[in-house]
Amino acid sequence: MCGIIGYIGNQNKKETIINGLRELEYRGYDSAGMAILQNDDLKVFRAVGKLTNLESTIINAKLHDEVFCGYGLAIGHTRWATHGSPTEINAHPHIGTQSALVHNGIIENYKELKQELESQGVVFSSQTDTEVIVHLFESYAKNYTAQEAFSKTIQRLIGSYAILLITKLEPNKIFYAKQHSPLMIGVCSKQHDEHKGGAIFFASSDAALIGLVDKVVYLQDGNCGEIDMYGFQNLHNIQPFYANKISAQKEGYRFFMEKEIYEQESILLETMMGRVSEDGIILDELDSDFFERFRSIAICACGTSHHSALVGKYLIERKARVRVTTHIASEFRYAKPVLEKDELFIAISQSGETADTLQALKLAKDEGLITLAICNVDNSAMVRLADYSLLTRAGIEKGVASTKAFATQVMVLWIFSVLLGIKRKRINEIGIKSEIKAMLNAQKATKVQAQIHDKIKRLSRRYLHGHGFFFIGRDIFYPLALEGALKLKEISYLHAEGYPSGEMKHGPIALADSELFTLALMPKNLLYNKNKSNVEEIIARDSTICAITPLDFDLADDVVKIPNYQSYMEEFFAMMVILQLLALEIAVRLNRDVDMPRNLAKSVTVE
Ligand code: M6R
Repeated sequence: MCGIIGYIGNQNKKETIINGLRELEYRGYDSAGMAILQNDDLKVFRAVGKLTNLESTIINAKLHDEVFCGYGLAIGHTRWATHGSPTEINAHPHIGTQSALVHNGIIENYKELKQELESQGVVFSSQTDTEVIVHLFESYAKNYTAQEAFSKTIQRLIGSYAILLITKLEPNKIFYAKQHSPLMIGVCSKQHDEHKGGAIFFASSDAALIGLVDKVVYLQDGNCGEIDMYGFQNLHNIQPFYANKISAQKEGYRFFMEKEIYEQESILLETMMGRVSEDGIILDELDSDFFERFRSIAICACGTSHHSALVGKYLIERKARVRVTTHIASEFRYAKPVLEKDELFIAISQSGETADTLQALKLAKDEGLITLAICNVDNSAMVRLADYSLLTRAGIEKGVASTKAFATQVMVLWIFSVLLGIKRKRINEIGIKSEIKAMLNAQKATKVQAQIHDKIKRLSRRYLHGHGFFFIGRDIFYPLALEGALKLKEISYLHAEGYPSGEMKHGPIALADSELFTLALMPKNLLYNKNKSNVEEIIARDSTICAITPLDFDLADDVVKIPNYQSYMEEFFAMMVILQLLALEIAVRLNRDVDMPRNLAKSVTVE
């Protein structure tokens, strides 16, 4: 949640911070701000709404360019509001009399700290939890050095944080601290001389540093300190940083989400590379005794990742005959879950930083369970914490509505389920061959066909009104229905729900009328007739039906036909693409902000 950027150097600080924030804006865009400390002058700019508003605020201040050029420090922030509404006064940086601070995360004990500071006469201007940090620092700084004051401040904080602070008391240094919220420091070694310096960057995510740095340090929980232009070499765990800029651009697509839908075909090949071939299935990351170490599996995740967890349950139970329970991470944590020592705990997450899932993973680990993270981001908190990890290899996903991350999670779970089935002797040679064939074909099934996309563009105009959408399916097509409904509501703001087809008659069918749209997932290779009966029950109540199926189905108002595949997994991946495109095109027609839908953020690092 929120994005942080920091900079020490000679470049134009306004441009550097704005460019960095632009890469992070997808994480939160309720407000944005920056602070620049240069020649003993601390300037702060803040604005509600998107980054363009911050740019206008700075332009309206009519400052000379020299204010932003020459050696100095700068910090920036793009916010997704948690404590305090999205107003300018609540925007970061928060300021004291001579310091400014940006923060990601939540300070849980901020009320006590605020009371303490107010009793000393400190006046607060915002409703945020963050503001206490800068005042606490300045309060300590009355009696201690800036270093000591910062360290004492951090020791008082309970909660999660990535913090950058600049202060006139130490005008050459950025102070930083990290706990349960990502933060990294980077340097471009070609331009950086150990003695003469160059430029130091901070960011809360890789995306902001692409093309700027070639060495990074991913800060660890508990890291706290200060750095000047020359301090990078003294840090521990310096790593090369290879990411390139092109992968972070839209490449001619209208939206990142659209690009990411189209990318799925090639991305899934990446996911399978070295894991799936005509010769067999391998997961190098899991050693030979891994598969013997558990009797059952618990999978935990949020949102879209939870939908892939549900798909995983069907696949693992069917293919390996191992019992699987699935959990929504935010529920799991406080439900006093019964965890068995011989249970494998799988956390699924695109970002690897989602607070609810991360805390659930910690809980499972503390209970002594063997843990596996299925994750898209190497070096993320979950990957570092889990005993084992399987990377989904989706590349940077920028659209807030997850698409390729979901596809790759399902693929990894499928590979895992088959491998587990092989190890547990539930799948024979013929079975392995047919799974491999289906995997290779399923990847191809995600190729977006121009005529299908055109059809969905046309179809979308008929699905803009009504009082709601039901997405229905059976078996693995039920979590796909949940995912289709989530995509639609996230980016179009229309009301949509996913249901198992057979469950409609137990209540939800009461809503059926011609103004209710039902998206029916009707694969040929899995429970077609059962599904068809359920769909006919809804048709009899006059609901408008859009069927997605390879077969003719005259009773539907609209049919989006998929090819005649041989396996239900190919059908699954083909239908997934159709649901993603449908949500996209409906949102476009409604003129919604597809990549940055309201109220959402890409990575939810608060509880
Ligand atoms: O990074 P994660 O996979 O842990 O994120 C979990 C959810 O917040 C995420 O999947 C969310 O539901 C997406 N916006 C869905 O499109």
